[in-house]
Amino acid sequence: MELISRIMDGSIPYDPAGRLGPVSAGLGAKQDDKIERLKGVPLFEGCSKRQLRSFAKIARVFDVAADTVITRAGEPGDEFFLIIDGTARVDVSAEKHVPLHPGEFFGEMSLLDGGPRSATVVAATPVRLLVISRRHFSVLLKEVPGLTQTLLTTLSRRVRPAEEEAERLRSASTGL
Ligand code: CMP
Repeated sequence: MELISRIMDGSIPYDPAGRLGPVSAGLGAKQDDKIERLKGVPLFEGCSKRQLRSFAKIARVFDVAADTVITRAGEPGDEFFLIIDGTARVDVSAEKHVPLHPGEFFGEMSLLDGGPRSATVVAATPVRLLVISRRHFSVLLKEVPGLTQTLLTTLSRRVRPAEEEAERLRSASTGL
């Protein structure tokens, strides 16, 4: 089950000690607050006020406590996540963990190819997230200047080390 559904049905534990600041996030967050937050996100730098206003309508802001599992490898994925505050950790394998910081995003792979989540992503600290559902992701792709380019570049950066590691393991096992 994806993050929003788990928050809504209460299956994500509430951890007041680990919470980020005042609870100004959530479904009730004021549009103006959201627009202010969107303005600070590098991905939306080239967007007009009108565009930011329309994104504020489709984006939801959530605070999650440290150690919350945000996406789980192998499960279906319907949400795109942008980190506003805090650090998330991508568990690519048992040995490889990639930290993601404010301004970075995750969850794009399942939305782009319709496949299951490629990795488990966990909140390494309390994290504030901007969450965009699958049906709104296409709006974002059409409207945000340079988003497709940024997604492609990021995907290449994420996939290349995995390919190199697979090649290294192949060479080590065959001795070639
Ligand atoms: P998705 O497969 O939808 O869900 C898990 C996400 O983790 C994935 O999209 C990427 O956003 C992210 N991810 C997967 N592999 C890596 C990696 N090697 N480096 C950084 N992020 C990754």
